[in-house]
Amino acid sequence: MNHELTSFLKEIKGQVEARLPQHIERLSVPERLAEAMIYSLEAGGKRIRPALLLATIQCFDKRIESGLDVACAMEMIHTYSLIHDDLPAMDDDDMRRGKPTNHKVFGEALAILAGDALLTYSFELVAKMEQAEVSAEQKLLLIQEIAKAAGPEGMVGGQVADIEGENKSLSLEELVYIHHHKTGDLLTASIVSGAIIAGASEGDIGNLRMFAKELGLMFQIKDDILDVEGDQETIGKPIGSDDGNNKSTYPNLLGLDGAKMKLNEHMLQAKEYLYRVDMNHELLLTLTNYVAERDH
Ligand code: IPE
Ligand code: IPE
Ligand code: MG
Ligand code: MG
Ligand code: MG
Repeated sequence: MNHELTSFLKEIKGQVEARLPQHIERLSVPERLAEAMIYSLEAGGKRIRPALLLATIQCFDKRIESGLDVACAMEMIHTYSLIHDDLPAMDDDDMRRGKPTNHKVFGEALAILAGDALLTYSFELVAKMEQAEVSAEQKLLLIQEIAKAAGPEGMVGGQVADIEGENKSLSLEELVYIHHHKTGDLLTASIVSGAIIAGASEGDIGNLRMFAKELGLMFQIKDDILDVEGDQETIGKPIGSDDGNNKSTYPNLLGLDGAKMKLNEHMLQAKEYLYRVDMNHELLLTLTNYVAERDH
């Protein structure tokens, strides 16, 4: 991995990971609930959504501190989605981020509720964030963007289509719909949120949205590839989960080589949109390469 990216990722991982449990520790909530929320927040993970949000702010030459609370909120929504995704009623997985899944440790009821709590608290956090440079109007835009991405037209809709697609052979078009929504929308909301906080123009936000859509597709194609040829220890979750659940994936539909070719096509397309944005592209370009090359 490129040196500049390694130190950026390390830096933001440190900052976000220090803040995530603090947000929960401050709350007056049943102890077991706080434990279940913190357990999954602290289990690790690449923190790619915070990284994309803060990298976008940095590419516009603004202070990344202005996006820290929203970055934490995005990671909370993502973590909730993983807790629910692993439940027996969904993908039924026992390991996540190298540790037993939330329901394995806390039971299904608490895992469901910890997920609900992370999702709702994330919006409370955006609404009450302390960064003075983010105006009330920007907060409204952020809440609208993030709610849409997480909700029925976004991640939840994608997860439903993913589950309804089990045991069926889907067309590439149907698979693209699933990938865009179950995965792409939260990644897109992270990037667009960074742009909103940085005060980017509508034109730049439009091109970043197109860039992020391609990046989201790349991210899930790579996730599907890693589910086939990844190293279980390194990715921190079981391999072969998709086959076990009879999911349609890029490797199933196009073969491993076909999936890798598509990944590359979408990377070229992503970069084309990125170059149209009036910013310093370097960091987001390196992150794009990382999404294609990552081993976990
Ligand atoms: C996994 O997301 C679920 C998908 C949307 C593909 P990540 O690969 O970002 O998981 P963590 O956060 O690093 O554990
Ligand atoms: C899940 O996709 C995406 C969300 C959690 C929204 P997957 O089911 O492929 O994610 P993993 O492989 O379990 O991380
Ligand atoms: Mg799933
Ligand atoms: Mg899963
Ligand atoms: Mg997967």
